[in-house]
Amino acid sequence: MKVDLIISADNIKEEDLRGKVVVVIDMLRATSVIVTALNNKAKEVFPILTVEEAFSKKNELVAEGISPLLGGERKAVRIERFDFSNSPLEYTAEKVEGKSIILSTTNGTRAINLSLNSEEILIGAMINSKAVIKLVKEINKDVVFINAGTNGEFSMDDFICSGYMISLLCEGEEKNKYEISDISKTAKYIYENNLNIIDFIKNARHYNILMELGLNNDLEYCCKKDIIDVVPRVDKRSRSIKL
Ligand code: MLT
Repeated sequence: MKVDLIISADNIKEEDLRGKVVVVIDMLRATSVIVTALNNKAKEVFPILTVEEAFSKKNELVAEGISPLLGGERKAVRIERFDFSNSPLEYTAEKVEGKSIILSTTNGTRAINLSLNSEEILIGAMINSKAVIKLVKEINKDVVFINAGTNGEFSMDDFICSGYMISLLCEGEEKNKYEISDISKTAKYIYENNLNIIDFIKNARHYNILMELGLNNDLEYCCKKDIIDVVPRVDKRSRSIKL
């Protein structure tokens, strides 16, 4: 089983994903939002590229008798006329249970949409890493960890999150069956030498942008390991993410 890693949405070559399982990671904060919302019993999350498409998806769902909620960000701030920002802490059970959510973010929902050529798309974050790796082991196919990155560039946060997952994958007796690319080994090395996630990513650009916006609670939440035990998956037919 091959293990590889892509460092940002701009580096995704859609044709390379055929037949592979991908884990899309945007731990600050899009995939943390998706994991949290579905864990809090949202019905589904639609990952949407643009604000215009988000509103037309809303109209489409309303015509079907569904009242969706809109969530997401531009420049890390809530979009005008959206119900939620991109803060996972807003997606409480009280607000999302049974609801369809339309989510549009700068990097995360883009990375998910660019991964549709793969065999299977799993949604990963620090908060559900162990559950993701358990499922990756069960599926037992070549896996690519896709880091959404920030504006097409590498980001320290998604990289160390991938490193944590790869480190978990390599625990136990089966570790010799994995063919791990150099970049995946580097992510694992970075994680294993920086077990305190906040200490490592406090220098990351996006971390500091969120800090400046006063989003310390989001950062603390998104850096927690394994507090959620579910793995959202993309249903390609409906293009929505579900459990
Ligand atoms: C994104 O998808 O670009 C991010 O999740 C941005 C954010 O932290 O809001």
